[in-house]
Amino acid sequence: MKSLKGKVAIVTGGASGIGEAIVRKFVEEGAKVVVADMNETSVKNIIDNLEDQGLEALGVVSDVSKKADLGKLVSETILKFGTIDILINNAGILDNFMTVSDLDIALWEKVMDVNVKAPTMLSQLVINYWLEKKKPGVIINAASVGGMFGARGGVSYVTSKHAIIGLTKNIASVYREDNIRAIAIAPGDIRTNIGNTLKNPNTKGWNALVQYVATGPTGEAADIASVVAFLVSDEAKFVNGTVVTIDGGWTGA
Ligand SMILES: NC(=O)c1ccc[n+]([C@@H]2O[C@H](COP(=O)([O-])OP(=O)(O)OC[C@H]3O[C@@H](n4cnc5c(N)ncnc54)[C@H](O)[C@@H]3O)[C@@H](O)[C@H]2O)c1
Repeated sequence: MKSLKGKVAIVTGGASGIGEAIVRKFVEEGAKVVVADMNETSVKNIIDNLEDQGLEALGVVSDVSKKADLGKLVSETILKFGTIDILINNAGILDNFMTVSDLDIALWEKVMDVNVKAPTMLSQLVINYWLEKKKPGVIINAASVGGMFGARGGVSYVTSKHAIIGLTKNIASVYREDNIRAIAIAPGDIRTNIGNTLKNPNTKGWNALVQYVATGPTGEAADIASVVAFLVSDEAKFVNGTVVTIDGGWTGA
């Protein structure tokens, strides 16, 4: 029996890395998936690839930091699949390990827009839909071990990932009786394309990671996707308002 049969899921940042692995796992488990990503070519490639395998998914090219794109994402999902059951707020960006002393505040604003404001606005749209329809739902927010410790990213990234854990816990607390769950995941070092976005990392910020905590064991995106598939399933119905760390033991050492 497929664990997500008939469920409709939106995955932001679904065209690369962890998001793509979640899309593929969900489809494998019987879900109807909406791939929301700003990279038009990658969205087309993944949708074409799924269709070649006889699998149905919807691609919506969208920049999650834009409110209008989020409205379009929700309405196109409902138009195509009739409902929404699962929201995966996965899209996120790094900040070159920038320290607060060297920070251009425009970078902080950009990181907060994508990593915190976008998941907040999209959660608002989807939760209001669930409340109106009296439907249960699950939200998974991509935090990071950088949301639990200080030296796993720059100041903007670490702040944003701590914030999304707060968002998750608040949603879980407020909507528990409406059968809406919210869980944050905290991946460690996962092999994806996000490392390619690092350009000349800030030396002091990078050294804080390497010198004091070292880098962790490296996992694969599929290691995250299998846990997420479990968390959104009914098997995990009592998991709510918490952070699930998936880091191969990095922060336990
Ligand atoms: N890879 C890791 O080691 C790691 C560790 C901890 C947490 N995370 C988190 O996991 C999530 C996914 O990271 P990944 O490593 O798979 O990254 P990735 O760079 O491989 O994929 C991210 C995807 O998000 C998309 N995206 C970025 N900004 C967007 C926007 N404004 N609108 C729509 N799409 C946008 C990109 O186009 C890309 O397809 C992020 O939130 C990241 O912070 C990653």
